[in-house]
Amino acid sequence: MKKYIIAIVSVSFIFFMPYLATEISESYNEPYNFLENPLPWLVITTFLLVLLMLAWLLIVVLKKVQLLEDEKNGVTEKTPHNNFGVWVNQILQKWTKSKDIDEEEEIILDHNYDGIKELDNSLPPWWVYMFYATIIFAVVYLVRFHVFDGENQIHEYNTAVAEAKANLEKYKETATDLVDVSTVTLLTDEKDLKRGKAIYNLNCAACHLPDGGGSIGPNLTDENWILGGGIKNIFTTVSNGGRDGKGMVAWDKILKPIDIAKVSSYIVSLQGTTPANPKKPEGDIWKE
Ligand code: HEC
Repeated sequence: MKKYIIAIVSVSFIFFMPYLATEISESYNEPYNFLENPLPWLVITTFLLVLLMLAWLLIVVLKKVQLLEDEKNGVTEKTPHNNFGVWVNQILQKWTKSKDIDEEEEIILDHNYDGIKELDNSLPPWWVYMFYATIIFAVVYLVRFHVFDGENQIHEYNTAVAEAKANLEKYKETATDLVDVSTVTLLTDEKDLKRGKAIYNLNCAACHLPDGGGSIGPNLTDENWILGGGIKNIFTTVSNGGRDGKGMVAWDKILKPIDIAKVSSYIVSLQGTTPANPKKPEGDIWKE
């Protein structure tokens, strides 16, 4: 049973890793540029290491089988069974430089703090080499990004911003719902004006009267404008509101830009109509 599990795991691993590697490489522009994206290389290296390990494990197992067989057949030459353990211990010893407990006498310092003693261990090689690696990394990093002006965060930021701006422009071209004061135009389509009228009657008629004659708010049918006439000025006034304290709020928190454009176009269409009780003109006569 255990054999099968191991086999299944290793086979799926062998198939899964190349799949992962292709997935990763497809998601990068330059998948094999180590400096830009070390991940694919890490995956490949891990994959090869694991393959090597599997092969090595196989050798160890075969050796062991041979050994047991020899013993059974009465071949007397006895090699120590735990060859492997000795080997691992040697490697560990080499990389940690640790002293066995019974050798600690050699490195113990001769002071004694209330029974606490100190060993004069040397730095473990794994640590030292890692430390050297960080120094090399730092030098490479410094030269690459600060001396030769590589793609640093500022470059990345600038390209990302430029890309986003380009995308935004593209989006604005296709999204007709998105108008602002620089792109707003007078809408004359009947459907748009009908929508504008509906918005007007719902939100604006209370102060400007349904026919635009004005009560709390000024008359919107005459050619006098306090804040400027024409689609762009009206769009701005409706979006941002009137002068402080006059009672005309900024509608951009409530209405969508395209709806502000429609209601503004509707207001322009009221020009020259004669309301029942027109409020007297306020502001200056406005000419396009
Ligand atoms: C609470 C009352 C009130 C409501 C509701 C209101 N307004 Fe006004 N509106 C005013 C007042 C008051 C002014 C004058 C502002 C000023 O003098 O700065 C004004 C000014 C304006 C002006 C500029 C007129 C000019 O002479 O420059 C426009 C355009 C306008 N309103 C459109 C609208 C629209 C469109 C709506 C609905 C979405 C609306 N208003 C809702 C009170 C209101």
